[in-house]
Amino acid sequence: MKKSLSVLFLCLTVIALAGMALAQGGVKKKRPLPPDYGKVTINNYSERAGLSPVVFDHWVHRSRFTCRLCHVDIGFAMKADATGIKAADNMAGYYCGICHDGKRVFDGVKVFESCSKKYGDERAKPCERCHSAGKDVKMENDFYRFTEKFPKERFGNGIDWEKAESMGMIKLVDYIEGVSIKRKSLAVQKDFALASQVEEMPDIIFSHKKHTVWNGCEVCHPEIFVGVKRGTTKYSMVEIFEGRYCGVCHNTVAFPLLDCQRCHSKPVQ
Ligand code: HEC
Ligand code: HEC
Ligand code: HEC
Ligand code: HEC
Ligand code: HEC
Ligand code: HEC
Repeated sequence: MKKSLSVLFLCLTVIALAGMALAQGGVKKKRPLPPDYGKVTINNYSERAGLSPVVFDHWVHRSRFTCRLCHVDIGFAMKADATGIKAADNMAGYYCGICHDGKRVFDGVKVFESCSKKYGDERAKPCERCHSAGKDVKMENDFYRFTEKFPKERFGNGIDWEKAESMGMIKLVDYIEGVSIKRKSLAVQKDFALASQVEEMPDIIFSHKKHTVWNGCEVCHPEIFVGVKRGTTKYSMVEIFEGRYCGVCHNTVAFPLLDCQRCHSKPVQ
């Protein structure tokens, strides 16, 4: 009884601290709707050039590609605006322009072209499909229709992405010829439970196998986790809420930290 009370107290403290961390960071307080979870607005140059900022939806892309393909091979930063994408890069076939070149085909769909020097040629190059912030642009990929049959979860996009992938409902592209480097795949690491530093807390589930499907090894090692030996990196829930360690992904794109039970449960066998 005393033990469970102290765990409860600890949890409340963490929630209060997390609330403070979020308020200080100025992160929006309202929970986003399922289609809006993982939305990133990119605006280093657009407004200055007289265009609407760019809205990038993770769900459209993560249902087709691995995180690794974009965040390692293509080189997008895992932080809004941090890449510094320019129209000229896209036109030269980098960043968004690797796929959005008006020629590349995925799943039988020719992907629409990105930036151009010509303004106003809306017919051939619909700028507003990306430069859409603050505009009433209807997406051609409809979230609810697209995800109708996917297994559901309570938070984030409201989808169990891990299950959708393992059930074969989505097939993730992890390699683009001429962009990705062929490499020997490393041995998949054993799954393990992270022992909580706090005695009364249940262990935290961490599956290397499930994470590797989306992230390969390189998204996490060595930048987010040194990964030489378990226990080398010490991290607390407050740091995670601040967007570090597990919080790099589980705050904005992978299921959110609100879903305590998905990590704090029984250990893996
Ligand atoms: C099609 C490419 C693509 C895929 C696939 C992709 N991302 Fe991203 N991601 C981006 C871009 C582009 C940005 C914004 C970068 C910028 O603004 O400089 C971004 C930003 C992020 C951010 C920062 C978000 C924020 O609000 O600051 C995180 C975290 C992230 N991605 C994680 C992931 C995870 C996890 C996956 C896989 C489940 C994933 N991404 C899949 C392209 C991609
Ligand atoms: C790895 C390939 C790839 C990269 C990189 C990529 N996309 Fe996409 N994107 C796709 C595919 C495939 C689709 C779905 C097919 C379609 O709708 O044409 C898509 C769809 C979209 C849509 C949905 C449009 C709609 O009306 O439904 C937007 C918006 C978009 N991408 C913006 C971006 C932006 C902005 C970037 C760069 C920051 C980017 N994409 C990078 C492959 C990519
Ligand atoms: C596939 C998505 C996509 C489409 C479609 C697209 N853009 Fe962009 N564009 C971007 C991204 C991403 C940026 C970087 C946004 C930022 O940081 O402000 C950008 C930036 C720009 C900039 C900012 C100035 C600079 O030098 O980078 C201009 C101008 C621009 N685009 C023109 C256009 C025009 C004109 C069209 C339509 C013909 C268009 N774009 C269509 C993704 C797109
Ligand atoms: C989502 C992030 C993530 C991905 C992807 C990932 N790892 Fe890890 N890895 C971790 C974490 C977390 C630990 C534990 C580190 C800690 O707590 O200090 C770890 C630990 C390790 C360790 C030390 C294991 C031990 O028992 O001491 C090795 C080796 C390792 N990872 C290799 C890999 C390889 C190889 C891949 C790709 C097949 C991979 N990792 C993919 C997050 C990841
Ligand atoms: C993405 C996985 C994940 C989610 C979701 C998550 N946690 Fe944690 N939590 C961790 C990890 C990893 C640790 C650190 C384990 C260690 O080494 O002690 C941790 C540690 C903790 C601790 C121990 C004290 C501390 O500060 O480290 C508490 C209490 C805690 N979490 C509460 C929560 C609560 C409450 C929620 C939901 C609001 C939550 N966690 C959601 C992964 C998660
Ligand atoms: C590089 C990004 C990234 C990091 C860092 C990361 N995760 Fe994840 N994690 C994902 C993605 C992507 C999924 C797939 C599900 C989703 O997107 O909601 C996932 C799924 C999970 C799942 C669900 C797997 C299942 O069995 O259904 C758990 C639990 C989890 N992560 C815990 C953790 C913990 C604990 C840490 C830190 C030690 C961590 N993750 C770090 C990206 C990440």
